[in-house]
Order: sequence, then structure tokens, then C-alpha cells
Amino acid sequence: MADGYKTVAYSQTTLSELMIPSYSNFGGKIHGGVILSLMDKVAYVCAAKHADAYCVTASIDTVDFLAPVEVGEIVSLLASVNYVGTSSLIIGIKVVSENVKTRVMKHTNTSYFTMVALDDNNKPVQVPGLILQNSNEIRRFYEATRRKEFKKVYKAEQIKIKASTDIEDYLETLKDERCVIEGKFA
Ligand SMILES: CC(C)(COP(=O)(O)OP(=O)(O)OC[C@H]1O[C@@H](n2cnc3c(N)ncnc32)[C@H](O)[C@@H]1OP(=O)(O)O)[C@@H](O)C(=O)NCCC(=O)NCCS
Repeated sequence: MADGYKTVAYSQTTLSELMIPSYSNFGGKIHGGVILSLMDKVAYVCAAKHADAYCVTASIDTVDFLAPVEVGEIVSLLASVNYVGTSSLIIGIKVVSENVKTRVMKHTNTSYFTMVALDDNNKPVQVPGLILQNSNEIRRFYEATRRKEFKKVYKAEQIKIKASTDIEDYLETLKDERCVIEGKFA
């Protein structure tokens, strides 16, 4: 292995857990928060293995729940390092849920967790580089660089939106929405 670099396989992590009744909501489905918590755990394990350091979650890129998870299913979370920066790592997580009787598997979501490695003084510390060994690993690293670029554009737009204070603009935008404005603001 190249000095200061690690393979993706080195830190690939799978976490499986049985969905028990206490994880469910009033509708009998598993709470989204339970899945999120498992995602955070598997992201941590994968990141810490690669970094050989304590890591924190800096951000999560979109969690869309594509299918409900039922009590009694086995949820498996497959995590791998998709990208490394200097102290940050992006962990791709695929979540699948399996009905143990029928063996039917559902893909419930895929998300990207940005983790940051910290030293003993809680300061960001450099993580090993990544050795890419197949076309999937190259694609995932490339896609992560693109998402980082999109995120910059998105953040800049957010700042513009927050900076806008023109009530006329608000009213114009809201006129086709399902809301009623009470009182005089113009
Ligand atoms: C994440 C954290 C350590 C970053 O600290 P910081 O002083 O902003 O550090 P820096 O600006 O030097 O950034 C360090 C790295 O984190 C990345 N980073 C920081 N905030 C980020 C964010 N919101 N999204 C993605 N990456 C982020 C930077 O891009 C940088 O990456 P690089 O080293 O690969 O270039 C700090 O914000 C923190 O401790 N946050 C709380 C984390 C936490 O408690 N998580 C649990 C949530 S309950």
C-alpha cells in the first residue's frame, strides 16, 4: 500500500440490525431517526478506520427515504470512503432492508456523510489519502468532487436568499402558493 494512503476496502463497513417493535412509530413503520442514527454509527466506524482517529459528523447530504422499513426486517448499512480531502472524508452509505421470510430486499436510501478527523486537541487532522482500485471507486470519488462544487453554488444561493429583504418580492413569489396573507405589508 502506498505510504500515507489506504484502500477503500480497508475501511469498508457493514452494520446489520434487526428492526424491533420499540423502533416503530404509530403507523407501525420504523422511525426515520432510528435509520439516521444507524447511518451515523456506520459512517463513524468507516471514517475512524480510515483515519485512525476520532471523527465527527460535519454534514449529511440529503436523506430521502425511498421505502418504509417494517418491524421484523433486517436493515443493513454498507459504508465506504468515497472521497478524502485534507481532514474530511465523505462516506457513502447504502441502506437496504430485508424481509427474512421472503428474502425480498429493498433499497431504502443512499446518503453521503462528511466526517472530519480530529486530533487529541479536537483540531482537524490530516487523514490518509485513498487508493482507488476499480471504476466504481473512481466514479464515487469523482461524483463527490462534483457534489462539493454543487454545494458551494447551493450555499451561495442560500446566502442570497437570506439577504433578500424585499417584501414585494416575497409577495410576488407567494402569490401562487397555498397561503393567505392577512394584513397589509405592501
Ligand atoms: C466539523 C468541524 C470539526 C470543522 O471544524 P472547522 O474549525 O470548521 O475546521 P476547518 O474549517 O479547518 O475544516 C476542516 C475540514 O472540515 C470540512 N468541513 C467543515 N465544515 C463542513 C461542513 N459543514 N460540511 C462539509 N465539510 C465541512 C472542511 O471543508 C475541511 O475539510 P478538509 O480538511 O478536507 O479541507 C467543526 O465544525 C465541528 O466540530 N462541528 C461539530 C461536529 C459535531 O459535533 N458533530 C456531531 C453533530 S451532533
